[in-house]
Amino acid sequence: MLVVETVPELRQAVSQLRSTRRSIGFVPTMGALHAGHASLIDHSVADHHATVVSIFVNPLQFAPHEDLTKYPRPRTADLKICDDHGAEVVYYPAVHDVYPTGFRTTVHVAELGTRWEGAARPTHFDGVTTVVAKLFGMVGADIAYFGQKDFQQQTLIRQMVRDLNMPTQVKVCPIVRDPDGMALSSRNIYLSNAERASGLALSKSLLAAQQHWNQGDRDPALLMSAMQAILAAEPGLELSYASIADVETLEPLTSPQPVVVAMVAGRVGTTRLIDNAVLGPWQPL
Ligand code: PAJ
Repeated sequence: MLVVETVPELRQAVSQLRSTRRSIGFVPTMGALHAGHASLIDHSVADHHATVVSIFVNPLQFAPHEDLTKYPRPRTADLKICDDHGAEVVYYPAVHDVYPTGFRTTVHVAELGTRWEGAARPTHFDGVTTVVAKLFGMVGADIAYFGQKDFQQQTLIRQMVRDLNMPTQVKVCPIVRDPDGMALSSRNIYLSNAERASGLALSKSLLAAQQHWNQGDRDPALLMSAMQAILAAEPGLELSYASIADVETLEPLTSPQPVVVAMVAGRVGTTRLIDNAVLGPWQPL
């Protein structure tokens, strides 16, 4: 496995791969890799002749008060996971390599980024779409792999790819969870045992919505009240939102639909957690 730190090295590594292998998969990450990230690498390795992973804690998607400086950066462990799962190239740049002096172009996807996570983190999604557009341009992969865990993020990225005719396709992979139901997240390491127990209310609320759905309940208000009942009973959780929304527009729903997304977010202590579940058959556009 080759680790590169600059765009010219990355381009050279990718063109070398291209000369001998037909298809390239790409997994963008911010590191602190866990089994969720590893599952994306596994999907890419299974689908392609070669896989490129990026590890970059993107300052553009953090607000000044957020955890940019304390975000975990376990370089050695991260590179081992990439290697163990069969990545061929890892792009591990410094900030100035991605954002050299004079950088001034950003990518903004209108409307989709203002609700939910965007309401709580107004500059976040422009930072995400900008860095993903740049990484897509650097790597030129056939398919890039994203987790359903960040549901709104994958919606915005697919919209960006359609709107800007980007040649890289997007594949969305299932959420990997701990046995107790908690969705894996790099931020889970910040949680004390008590905070983690409070955070479990998120996945429990989604399970309740799923159980109602399985019994044939389709009324968004009913599904939402099933979620609320569990979330309200957890005093350690400061709820940000719990919603039943359209899977493509992310608009809150009031009438029954064949497929919906249940989205939930909240804070335990100082850590913001998000989770979601798609109810019904979903095929990302
Ligand atoms: P990061 O939080 O490191 O996540 C990288 C990818 O891993 C994302 O596509 C995310 O949805 C996926 N992922 C995280 N937890 C997961 C889980 N439990 N199961 C399955 N997939 C999971 O998302 C980002 O980084 C950044 O915003 C990025 C896209 C890299 C741009 O900076």
